[in-house]
Amino acid sequence: MRKTIKDIRSMKSAGQKITMLTAYDASMARLFSSCGVDILLVGDSLGMVMLGYDSTVPVTMEEMLHHASAVRRGAPDAFVLGDMPFGSYQSGVRDAILNGLRFLKEAGCDAVKLEGGLEMCEVVKGMVAAGIPVMGHIGLTPQTASQLGGFKVQGKDMEAAKRLMDEALALEQAGAFGLLIECIPAGLAEVISASLAIPTVGIGAGAHCDGQVLVSHDLLGLFEKFQPKFVKQYANLSPLIKEGVQRFNSEVRGGVYPAEEHGFASEGDYRQLLKR
Ligand code: KIV
Repeated sequence: MRKTIKDIRSMKSAGQKITMLTAYDASMARLFSSCGVDILLVGDSLGMVMLGYDSTVPVTMEEMLHHASAVRRGAPDAFVLGDMPFGSYQSGVRDAILNGLRFLKEAGCDAVKLEGGLEMCEVVKGMVAAGIPVMGHIGLTPQTASQLGGFKVQGKDMEAAKRLMDEALALEQAGAFGLLIECIPAGLAEVISASLAIPTVGIGAGAHCDGQVLVSHDLLGLFEKFQPKFVKQYANLSPLIKEGVQRFNSEVRGGVYPAEEHGFASEGDYRQLLKR
């Protein structure tokens, strides 16, 4: 049965860890949902792992909605979280509400996620007031990574750590139902998680968050360009895929595939139709 915001929030109070994985298409969404993953995140990481961009910055609303709709069709019983792409919410509360509503109405998402701290609190407040459940995302925020000095661990010194704590509390106050925390020291993620009533979901933020998220292509060994330190690869599918494709190549070229059992029986002698 599809989880609700209330179910996800009560997992924290019950001490049950939340699992979240990115999903970008119907087949993967169906598989992950059948494994009981709590939240399917249609992350804007799809720009890099599915669409071949160098960052998440170019990803558009249309691209996000296209993939989010596919995930919803593949996993009708899953809690689906849509990632607001860069440029879809930074221009103001009204734009954020209109784009957030598109995720709910057009793609069938249950909630949306957006990056940013104190500067996003008014936007989060407005969206929640409009009926859009919002998850915050602080720490390393890939859409604005260049302003943060690149893909680096955030909140290391006490001043930066205090700022992250303030942001977490402010986003909770603004009405966020949960908080994704990316790439910060484990001890800081632990005290942030303990200070909030809403659940935290960590990536590169240690074991004490209320849940964990990974980009599914990293977990499955499907993205070969680079691998962040925090990733654990649970399967390595790239060599399996390459092996299958190479066998297909050589069997087609060698006349082995398709064999008789892959074809359909003739019901007459079609050679009489031959034109020359
Ligand atoms: O877009 C994404 O995949 C993310 C990751 C941090 C999980 O936001």
